Amino acid sequence: MRVLVVGSGGREHTLVWKLAKSPRVKKIYCAPGNGGIAKQAELVDIKQDDIEGLLKFAKAEKINLVIVGSEIPLALGIVDLFQSEGIKIFGPTKELAKIESSKVFAKELMKKYNVPTADFKIFKDSEQAKDYVRTKGTPIVIKADGLAFGKGVIVAKEKEEALGAIANIMDFKLFGSAGDMVIIEDCLQGEEVSILVVSDGKDFVSLPSSQDHKRIFDEDRGPNTGGMGAYSPAPIVTNDMYEEIKADIITPIIKGLANEGNPYKGVLYAGLMITKDGPKVLEFNVRFGDPEAQAILPRLNTDLVDVIEAAIDGKLNEFGELEWRNEPCVCVIMASGGYPGDYKKALEIKGTEELRGLEDIMVFHAATKIQDGKLLTNGGRVLGVTALGADIEGAVNKTYRAISKINFENAYYRKDIGSKALSKFKSAKV
Ligand code: AMP
Ligand code: GLY
Repeated sequence: MRVLVVGSGGREHTLVWKLAKSPRVKKIYCAPGNGGIAKQAELVDIKQDDIEGLLKFAKAEKINLVIVGSEIPLALGIVDLFQSEGIKIFGPTKELAKIESSKVFAKELMKKYNVPTADFKIFKDSEQAKDYVRTKGTPIVIKADGLAFGKGVIVAKEKEEALGAIANIMDFKLFGSAGDMVIIEDCLQGEEVSILVVSDGKDFVSLPSSQDHKRIFDEDRGPNTGGMGAYSPAPIVTNDMYEEIKADIITPIIKGLANEGNPYKGVLYAGLMITKDGPKVLEFNVRFGDPEAQAILPRLNTDLVDVIEAAIDGKLNEFGELEWRNEPCVCVIMASGGYPGDYKKALEIKGTEELRGLEDIMVFHAATKIQDGKLLTNGGRVLGVTALGADIEGAVNKTYRAISKINFENAYYRKDIGSKALSKFKSAKV
């Protein structure tokens, strides 16, 4: 089988790494990929948002299966386009990618199916939105409706911050038409977790829980980032809680959409806050998480191609549960100093070769390139250093030992990935 992975980050490297283990996969292409992915896949110089260009390539190269990493091509309708040409592709249609690309769409869907989430109001007019903030007070959460490079959500502690966020999104159009509407919602308190399932439109199989670390600094301080590390499982999600999440959150959405004649196929990712009243949805995403994929997929024993194909063909009911390794997995992101603000690029990375082939240690590349035989940084989040261990403590220690072998100028990483799980559950298993 000839597979095309679309995207260029750590998640896509993890997908390629896992696909390379499948006896069914003969050739992997990745568009556009990165310096690490180039070791396992042939890179294709087409950007992820050039969906017509990707289609042309897939037809010419007789691609049998396409796996899309990020939400951007999904929101542009890559699935509809490839399906219309009879090429197997994994992910939701453009209409259902709105679960991520329109927060208003997602909130209305949650309301319709009684899915627990923060109380909210939708505004098309900025003055009305500001009046609402003035009467409601803070803390309060302001969300641009559309995709905004992960910057469209503001958790405001002060009224001025909330009013400023509304002005930026709606009056100054900082995110363009993504700010035509805003959602203003209650601020939830608790610990965040990610729950991912693979749906075939009627049935789904679930992946182990995981936890991302979104803030740049230790102890969840500083600005939000694309994610500075993750671990799986997240022991705060007990088996009973996972069942509750499936029954109250995942099943109503998947069955509800199926009954509407609009089946959801692909990864459904629920970003949850575990509040004192139970799990509530912060957001849905329509693809694997990054860096959650790096912490989840190394634990998967099942062939990824088999499950993805069963999902595309609507046959997950015959598939049974996925098989997982018991060992927890931890991924720590090494970033270029300055990220998520300004940072340097093209810094030489040393030490990754020494780690190649070490058992249960994986270095997933998020933004690297190879130039004149040297491995160079090529973005803010550079590497996702990942390890499996006998327990979370073991996986954490192994990951940081591996990191100590890698260096580039001004490398930055959080020192506390996994510490929340460690403080509560020293030897957590699935
Ligand atoms: P979202 O893209 O909707 O997940 O929001 C990004 C981040 O904002 C989440 O990961 C949370 O940290 C935070 N957030 C979103 N909604 C809320 C909420 N209602 N209460 C508290 N924090 C929130
Ligand atoms: N880890 C957050 C995301 O993938 O959206």
